[in-house]
Amino acid sequence: MKSFYNGFSKSPFFTVLALVLSSFLMLASAGNFLQDFDLTWGDHRAKIFNGGQLLSLSLDQVSGSGFKSKNEYLFGRIDMQLKLVAGNSAGTVTAYYLSSEGPTHDEIDFEFLGNTSGDPYILHTNIFTQGKGNREQQFYLWFDPTKNFHTYSVIWDSKQIVFLVDKTPIRVFANAEGKGVPFPKNQPMRIHSSLWNADDWATRGGLVKTDWSKAPFTAYYRNFNVQGSTTSKFSNGAWQSQQLDAYSRRRLRWVQKNFMIYNYCNDSKRFPQGIPAECR
Ligand SMILES: *[C@@H]1O[C@H](CO)[C@@H](O)[C@H](O)[C@H]1NC(C)=O
Ligand SMILES: *[C@@H]1O[C@H](CO)[C@@H](O)[C@H](O)[C@H]1NC(C)=O
Repeated sequence: MKSFYNGFSKSPFFTVLALVLSSFLMLASAGNFLQDFDLTWGDHRAKIFNGGQLLSLSLDQVSGSGFKSKNEYLFGRIDMQLKLVAGNSAGTVTAYYLSSEGPTHDEIDFEFLGNTSGDPYILHTNIFTQGKGNREQQFYLWFDPTKNFHTYSVIWDSKQIVFLVDKTPIRVFANAEGKGVPFPKNQPMRIHSSLWNADDWATRGGLVKTDWSKAPFTAYYRNFNVQGSTTSKFSNGAWQSQQLDAYSRRRLRWVQKNFMIYNYCNDSKRFPQGIPAECR
């Protein structure tokens, strides 16, 4: 698994704030954790430092911790840099996701499944529309996500949802309403993150348990950035992203070919009645 971490190209480290021009009012803001987020659970295990520039979540045997955005978003590009739990992170899950509320909620998920030292994290992704998920895709990363901060992004508009890692698209969920598949486009979402214990399933399917002698486990967040519309401010939901260019489509194929380890679209055993409509 070490080979995934070698030969990692030195991509530009920070996402540059691009100004989006449009006929609608737009928000382009570099975030501040004190202004933009609430610590939601875990007491002192969730912390904000450096005047709002850095946030950390911790997990110990008593509790995990979490935060959520004050604003709700309906479309936009959302970037966050994460540095995941280092060392033996087996059994831990760092979830970073967008979600609306209620039984027919929509959700866009990144979940980072920890591992024993030196073994690769799994990046688990999922999309819920109208309360229904079951759209998992999983990836190894092409770098060690615990050594440095890396940027995890969602680009969400009425046509598609794109997941990106360091600006490289890893997954595209296209609007398939034409095939009868609901698409998230009416319910604004908040940004959430939590660090919790999931050693009943996370690492090698639950075989490797959390080593509590290594607790507390800590993940770090910085450089939160949003381009697009927040419902609390502009409430228009009209933001549109650019189409992926040829280079991005090549990068997407590179990730899917070399790093994708599970794709629900490919799992015919799981869907004996036929794979989901959006996969066809
Ligand atoms: C952990 O490492 C093992 C062995 O390399 C690998 O099979 C597994 O996919 C890795 N990730 C998780 C989260 O289990
Ligand atoms: C997709 O299915 C093929 C054939 O069953 C399999 O070889 C491949 O590993 C699968 N890919 C993923 C990402 O699940």
